Amino acid sequence: MSRPLRLGILVSGRGSNFEAIATAIERRELDAQIVVVICNHRQAPVIERAQRRNFPTVVLVQMDFPSRQEHHFAMGRLLTQHDVDLVVTAGFDRILDAEVVRAFDGRIVNIHPSLLPAFPGLHAQADALAYGVRFSGCTVHFVSEELDAGPILLQAVVPVYDRDTPETLADRILEEEHKILPRAIQLISEGRTRIEGRRVLLG
Ligand code: GRF
Repeated sequence: MSRPLRLGILVSGRGSNFEAIATAIERRELDAQIVVVICNHRQAPVIERAQRRNFPTVVLVQMDFPSRQEHHFAMGRLLTQHDVDLVVTAGFDRILDAEVVRAFDGRIVNIHPSLLPAFPGLHAQADALAYGVRFSGCTVHFVSEELDAGPILLQAVVPVYDRDTPETLADRILEEEHKILPRAIQLISEGRTRIEGRRVLLG
């Protein structure tokens, strides 16, 4: 039997998506193990969340490195040292250095709070609201060198209401993120994803 997929999680803040992955593993809905959690902010709530669950947790802050690239290389080395099969950027607020993306080609997934290719970037929920769309949602995609543009694995749709604020919309989307991110990782763990050009075919 093959070993459970070894996950390295990159996260910047709250860590509710990290928690959703950890819970899915506990419930045996996801056949994977979290081997390292890397956080790029010293005060992020996720650090305590991850330590409480006894996951190896490393804080790597860009300020402590001579350059952005050195910071990202350090994260890449850590992922390699932990023999990570799949990197999950779950609420990670940086664009990974292209060299790190290439080193883990096809082995990095990201969760984004919009229906890509609509509303890439850091303010997806506010942008969706301002545009006036009636539906938004979330996307799990493989990470490519271009921001929020890699092949799409799974998406989920939520309605947008007149009374919504960016916060209420973000909460509704987040509930779906917590479902599709573990589900997407499970598809990868079962070897059911094949990237063909822009598309991910699910076997
Ligand atoms: C999520 O909405 C994610 O899609 C976005 O940032 C948020 C992170 O939330 N990139 P959390 O840290 O997982 O709670």
